[in-house]
Amino acid sequence: MKHKNLFESLVQKYNIKMSQGGKDVYTPIDGSQLGSFSENWNDDLDHSLNKLEKTFEQWKNYPAPKRGEMIRLFGNAVREAKEDLSKMITLENGKVYQESLGEIQEVIDICDFAVGLSRQLYGLTMPSERQDHRMQEMWNPYGTVGVVSAFNFPAAVWSWNFAIATVGGNVVLWKPSPKTPFISLMLKSIWDKTCDSANLSWAKDVLLMHMGMNTQAENICLDPRIKVVSLTGSSDMGRSLAPIVQKRFGKLIMELGGNNAMIVTPEANQKLAVKSIVFSAVGTSGQRCTSLRRLIVHNSIKQDLVAKVVKAYATITPGDPFSENTLMGPMINKQAIDKMQEVLTYCKTNGHIIHGGEVVGDTYVKPAVVELTKPDMIVQQETFAPILYVIGYESLDEAIKIQNDVPQGLSSCIFTDNLQEAERFIGANGSDCGIVNVNIGPSGAEIGGAFGGEKDTGGGRESGSDAWKQYMKRSTVTINYGDDLPLAQGVKFDV
Ligand code: UN1
Repeated sequence: MKHKNLFESLVQKYNIKMSQGGKDVYTPIDGSQLGSFSENWNDDLDHSLNKLEKTFEQWKNYPAPKRGEMIRLFGNAVREAKEDLSKMITLENGKVYQESLGEIQEVIDICDFAVGLSRQLYGLTMPSERQDHRMQEMWNPYGTVGVVSAFNFPAAVWSWNFAIATVGGNVVLWKPSPKTPFISLMLKSIWDKTCDSANLSWAKDVLLMHMGMNTQAENICLDPRIKVVSLTGSSDMGRSLAPIVQKRFGKLIMELGGNNAMIVTPEANQKLAVKSIVFSAVGTSGQRCTSLRRLIVHNSIKQDLVAKVVKAYATITPGDPFSENTLMGPMINKQAIDKMQEVLTYCKTNGHIIHGGEVVGDTYVKPAVVELTKPDMIVQQETFAPILYVIGYESLDEAIKIQNDVPQGLSSCIFTDNLQEAERFIGANGSDCGIVNVNIGPSGAEIGGAFGGEKDTGGGRESGSDAWKQYMKRSTVTINYGDDLPLAQGVKFDV
């Protein structure tokens, strides 16, 4: 009842219409129903895409710094609503409140970044080999960007796409996860209000929603009016949806599964390493795409480090994500718990040593450490749960080989105070991931860098650095300001 009341007050405050019937949404905190939402079908898609195309004509001609100003106002509105938005995230996906605050901070941060970016959509100028010619790059928006987001970062990952795509002049159609529809409807409502308050009501249609399940995601992938599709989810999801977009030569930005590792060498500061292991493997109940899944530790310190980690794990009691002392909330649903248990049973049957992992409620579980007693293919797969595999190594080369020897390539890190080891890890012979950290865990990246990874992670980059270029068409422009028409490469063609 407590959760239902909080939910209803948020829904009312942000003017979110509840559907009668439709898809039900439950909180993982106690399994009670929060509300339900209506799915959008093809007629809605058609309607929304027409609206988006119309709005794009206006938005792309509205100066970029003014688009940035709208994102600045939106970011300010998100600042004001920070606690409400964070509460909704915790209600919908069970993330501990501190982490939800962090997620909304990430939305605010990317808005700030995008405001600056709106005055820095720079194109290069290149010297031309021809007399009285000039070359330059222009970056123009594509049009409609479809954003398919996941339950675990229901606000932040969308905002990386939304803020960056829109300052570039694009418009956005958003399909949120059916597990977390209401945080997205809150953000849409804040965007609408921002536009109204700025006397720019037409810009409300810069962001439209397409609510639903896999079918709706598939329909987004199919429609050629959606020029860029940004997909966040599992590698399996990417594998089934990407070919649909590729078949029509649409542009894809994928942020898929991770199987992130930490190498701890004998020269590591172990105190730092243990802290970082617990945050990265247990935080968000192991449901980040950047969660730590594999601990690759030098054999000489393995027993000692595992003992410290197991001791730290013992202090963690999964519980109410709204309570200040809770470090680990529930998992998203019972299926996630069942999947985790299935993997743990497999590990047990195969003779590995398991610490923790006990189920303590419908959606609550203790985090698990699994010491591998022999090589096992299980470590190749991403189980979206707090399971940490421990693997021993002898040489750094071997450790790097183990780290890279999985299909995914999102995030990685090394703990060492030895410069050579660190440099080796970040260089060409080191980690093959998109995120490569030294003395920091694999999760909890800042927005300033480009976020994403290689191999089965999909190759996309979102968020900071020059990831904005993925949402823009690059044109190479050559301008002749002379009286003659010299050809490139000195070709003679006198007519
Ligand atoms: C995700 O899990 O999809 O780096 C995104 C992190 C967060 C984002 C995670 N800033 O862990």
